[in-house]
This record gives sequence, C-alpha cells and structure tokens, in this order.
Amino acid sequence: MALGPQSRWRRVLLLALLPMLAAIFYYVSTTPPSFLPHASSPSSDNMTFSSDDASMMTVMKALYGPIVHPVAAPNFTDEDGETFYLPKGKDDPRFKKSLGKRVLILDVDSRPLNHEGQILGKELKWKGIKPLAAGMLSHYMYAQVHGYTYKFIHAPSYEDRWGTWTKVPMMLSAIRTRQFDYIVFMDSDVVMHYPHLPIEWLLNYWDVQPGMLAAMSIDPDEPQNYDVRGNRYLNTGFVILQNDRDHEGNVDGVEGKESRLETMLTRWAECPDEGYKHCKRWKGDWPHEQAAFGTFVRYDPLFSSRPSLAAEKAGAPPENTYAKGEAIKVLPCVEANGAPEAENRGGCKGLFVRHYWVDKSLVASAVSDGILQYWMPRLHHGLIDSGNIVDAKGFQLHGAEAVELHGEAREGARKGKGTGSANLKEEGW
Ligand SMILES: *[C@@H]1O[C@H](CO)[C@@H](O)[C@H](O)[C@H]1NC(C)=O
Ligand SMILES: *[C@@H]1O[C@H](CO)[C@@H](O)[C@H](O)[C@H]1NC(C)=O
Repeated sequence: MALGPQSRWRRVLLLALLPMLAAIFYYVSTTPPSFLPHASSPSSDNMTFSSDDASMMTVMKALYGPIVHPVAAPNFTDEDGETFYLPKGKDDPRFKKSLGKRVLILDVDSRPLNHEGQILGKELKWKGIKPLAAGMLSHYMYAQVHGYTYKFIHAPSYEDRWGTWTKVPMMLSAIRTRQFDYIVFMDSDVVMHYPHLPIEWLLNYWDVQPGMLAAMSIDPDEPQNYDVRGNRYLNTGFVILQNDRDHEGNVDGVEGKESRLETMLTRWAECPDEGYKHCKRWKGDWPHEQAAFGTFVRYDPLFSSRPSLAAEKAGAPPENTYAKGEAIKVLPCVEANGAPEAENRGGCKGLFVRHYWVDKSLVASAVSDGILQYWMPRLHHGLIDSGNIVDAKGFQLHGAEAVELHGEAREGARKGKGTGSANLKEEGW
C-alpha cells in the first residue's frame, strides 16, 4: 500500500513521539503518582497540605461543578425520587443566576473551640472530629461549591447572657457591612443536605419576596416550643436574612438611614436590656434569643401586621400564621428543620436543611453524606466502565480449574442457574 503524504507524516510523528513517551513513562514511574496540581507531597501519615495548595478547590470543583443544580430550575428531585416544584405561578422565578459573593454563609461561636477535633484545634483529623467542626466545615464547603462568601466569626460573649445570643449582634454587624444581599446563618449542627443545591433555588422554592426580612423554620409541635401567646417558636438555628437596602445601599432613597432589617436585629439584640418588657429572663433561660425573637420581635408592629392568632385559631396550618407581605417568612419544619432521625418529632425530617438538635453526634455522618452521595455514584460509574470487572460467570469450577461452559449451560450459569447456585445466600449486602 502506497503511503499518502498524510500517513507518512503520521509515521514521522509517531517515531518522534516514541522517545517522548518513553521519557514520560520514565517520569511517571519515578515520581510518586499525583494527579493533583501543585500538590506538595506530604508524608503519607500527614494529611495536611500547605496553605497555597490549590488541589482541594480542584477536587471540590471536579466533584460538584458538573452537577450544581441550576438556580432557575423549575424542579428538584431528591434522593428518594420525590420531585419538588417551584410554587404555582412562579415558573419565571425571582432568582435566575447565582448571587455569588453577595451571599454570606455565616458561622458564629464564642466558645474557645481549640481542643483536639474542634474547628480551631491544630491538625484536625476525621477520626475524633467534633460534630460542630464537621458542621462548620460543611458550611465552608457549601460556600466554596457555589462561590458564596464564608465567614466564621469567633465572637465575643455577653457577660450576662447565654452564649447563643452572640449570633444576633454578629448578624447585625455582617448586614451593616453592606457587602451582602443575603446572609445564611447556620448553627454548627445545621447541615445543607444537598450541597449541590444553591440557596438561590431554595429562595425561589420558598418564594422569598422583596420586603421580607428573614426566613426561619417553625419548630416541632411540642409544648416547649410554644410562646406565651400559644404560637410556635421559629427556630433560630437556620436564619436567612434579606438585606432591604437598595442597590446604592440606601433605604427609601435616603442615605445613612437605618434599614428595617437593621432595626429588627437591633431590637432583637437589645430585647433583654432596654427593648421589650419582660424580655430580660431570656438572657439566661432556654431557649434564649430564640424565645426573645419568638415572644417579642416577631410581634413588633414594625415587622408584623397581624400579631393575632386568628389564622391559627381558624384552623390554618401554623406555617400560614403570618400574612402575605409580612417581614418574616416561616419555613416548613419538614424542609428546614430536624433530621430523618427526628421525623417522629412532628415530621421535621430536614428535607433540605438538617438540624441535628435531635442528636449532635449524627452531624459528622450527615456531613459525609453530603460528600459521599455524589462521590460514590461517580466512583461506581468509574469502576463499571474501567474494564476491571472480570465476568467469569460462563465458567464452572472443578477443583482448582475454571472450565469454560458452552451453549445452554453457559447461558444458564450466566443467569445464575445451574451448579452451585443453591450454595449462595443473597442477603442483599
Ligand atoms: C504536615 O505537612 C504540613 C504541610 O506540608 C506541614 O506544615 C506540617 O508541619 C506537617 N505536619 C507534621 C506533623 O509533620
Ligand atoms: C424538571 O425540570 C426539567 C427542566 O425543565 C424538565 O426537563 C424535567 O422533566 C422536570 N422533571 C420533572 C420530574 O418534572
């Protein structure tokens, strides 16, 4: 066969390539295998990489990037196959693209948290990781996956109040930076169950409207979760704040005016001091700042035009106690509170946002769920396509030998019938 000019070139190229391939092979076989860019190779028992190492970001992007759920998607199907749709009439959703750095994922804690396994301890290991460290790292990861801002504020504590109160002035100071349109505050035992699902999709799904200041989940229907007026508390472990300043950072076109959201957070923070009457006891009594919000702030006429219980008394679900156009959006317990292990607590199973008040020791495995639910299917695909599964089902064992079967016997063996199948116990493992 005569060689055309093209194939001749190919041959020349191939010849030139051979030494190169040999060189690469030599390189590959003499350097430790590493597919991560810039990975400084730590010793095998040291899991810490230097801080300028970009490989972690690459891994996260590679794992989540291709599957990030579109912000404006009309639906979302969960791991059980249940599909959730945007509310009726909202096919043209409010949020169409990622808000990126204008979303702040916020952790706040005033405890030292510097012991082994804690977030500020040195050289964190997975073994012995404390639940709250796992939770915070999952928030950090969530922010990285979607390009949001993340901050953990290691906060001062009040001298005369329970520690969880610090979240309120810290949320206020974050809002006052004017750098964020949305702040998603999470207690450290709160985990986004689907890290690939952007918060903007949830804002669409929960129909968060302009004018709303905050969205929080209602607590389970249990006696300790009711305020003195007989309304259920909103859980302050997961709080979405919506900045109500305009694009220039003004309020009602006025520069320097305090926004309604800032007023709400200020009144909340001042509740037990000079704020609302009888709020003082919540400085130390459980549930602290949650009770202050639930008992006083949410009924403040500035934030609620309908403080009465009329709707609830009339049999409407508590979720609808607050009228349209009010400042506080109440999220369903089943979607934004609790965990599957708490389903018997009023059905609060944390479909989207899990809150492990039921058992903090479950946080770490919940966090690993948020990674392995994506990692494992891809690993599985890789294995199935890798050519490393050897199909020897068409053979029959005789002593040390595997003898190839033919015809019907082979077909039967491959379908799991025939010799030996009675000795198998399918236990579903
Ligand atoms: C582990 O590796 C990191 C970065 O390479 C280094 O800073 C750290 O000192 C190492 N730790 C130990 C215990 O060797
Ligand atoms: C969800 O939305 C996508 C995009 O419009 C559509 O292709 C898909 O059929 C929808 N899924 C369900 C279950 O409705």
